Amino acid sequence: MDGKVEAMDYVSVGRTGLRVSRVCLGTMTFGKESDEEVSRAIMDHAWNLGINFFDTANVYNKGLTEEIVGRWIGDKREALVLASKVHFPTGDGPLERGCSRRHILLEVEKSLRRLKTDWLDILYLHHWDDNVALDETLNAVDTLVRQGKVMYCGVSNFTAWQLMKAIDFAAFRNLMPIVCMQPMYNLIKRQAEVELFPLAQSEHVAVFPYNPLAAGVLTGKYLRGELGRLDESEMYRERYKNPVYAEVAQRFVEYAAAHHCSPASLALAWAASHPAVTAPIVGARNMEQLTDGLKFLDIGLTAEQRAEISALSVEPPLATDR
Ligand SMILES: NC(=O)c1ccc[n+]([C@@H]2O[C@H](COP(=O)([O-])OP(=O)(O)OC[C@H]3O[C@@H](n4cnc5c(N)ncnc54)[C@H](OP(=O)(O)O)[C@@H]3O)[C@@H](O)[C@H]2O)c1
Repeated sequence: MDGKVEAMDYVSVGRTGLRVSRVCLGTMTFGKESDEEVSRAIMDHAWNLGINFFDTANVYNKGLTEEIVGRWIGDKREALVLASKVHFPTGDGPLERGCSRRHILLEVEKSLRRLKTDWLDILYLHHWDDNVALDETLNAVDTLVRQGKVMYCGVSNFTAWQLMKAIDFAAFRNLMPIVCMQPMYNLIKRQAEVELFPLAQSEHVAVFPYNPLAAGVLTGKYLRGELGRLDESEMYRERYKNPVYAEVAQRFVEYAAAHHCSPASLALAWAASHPAVTAPIVGARNMEQLTDGLKFLDIGLTAEQRAEISALSVEPPLATDR
């Protein structure tokens, strides 16, 4: 499991000309678990390693995350690939959510102001919206692209049928194509392997997985009684606090120790090693976590090692299970 990476590698986002580092920096902790000083140190470190791809969202810490990133960017903007998102509620009102034309256009304006930039490189629809016609949503994104405020369109947390519908709809109406997706993916949650990843490979959609460490569960910290996100977030407890997942984490941590890897770096390496995956999104609350996770850049997993690690969890049944 070695093969030292001397310099950052860059990969294409689907069939676009956009070239991003083979790891994306997540910013969700900025303004909450990480204060501005720590957030800036994290961004500096990532940038100095050649990570040119940062992921944020309009809703992260009520806009504070985007403000912190915006204050950091300075003269790096043209060399930085910046992604943000829209969908989740920004307030309690009925208009302050979703993928309506109105909400998308107003929220992107706010994101641009917070980020102190004229454009987003990627705008993700953060979630499918059952209450809005796809026609309205994709036309709103297309408007932003034609205005030069958004360069490329991605989706997150879509099912495969929703994504395929959106891809075909955009092609049929000659709207901006969907070039990337952001699914949840880690050794514990492998649903994306069943339908989303084959779809991504078939349609040349780039894949940027979030939660590659299962929100920290795969580091083994909860087995050792340490505190973390699961103690702070009900949503994450529901997603990951499960004795079956703890058993996977136990087997995984033992495997990592036997192979002289930190669990965080091996979990990222495993997520990155699926052939459909373009680049995982790394998330950290401090420099120690960041540097630990980024050791994955030095890990070259063989197909056999990927198979051994995959066997530590439950393989999801095929879509055509019979
Ligand atoms: N599209 C979406 O719906 C969506 C959803 C979630 C995230 N994202 C994006 O994806 C990025 C990454 O997601 P994520 O943060 O959930 O990824 P993750 O890698 O699954 O979890 C990262 C968290 O694990 C813990 N951790 C990290 N390294 C550790 C280490 N070495 N030892 C112990 N604990 C460690 C930290 O949490 P604690 O210290 O608090 O335990 C850290 O915040 C986010 O920043 C965001 O940009 C997108």
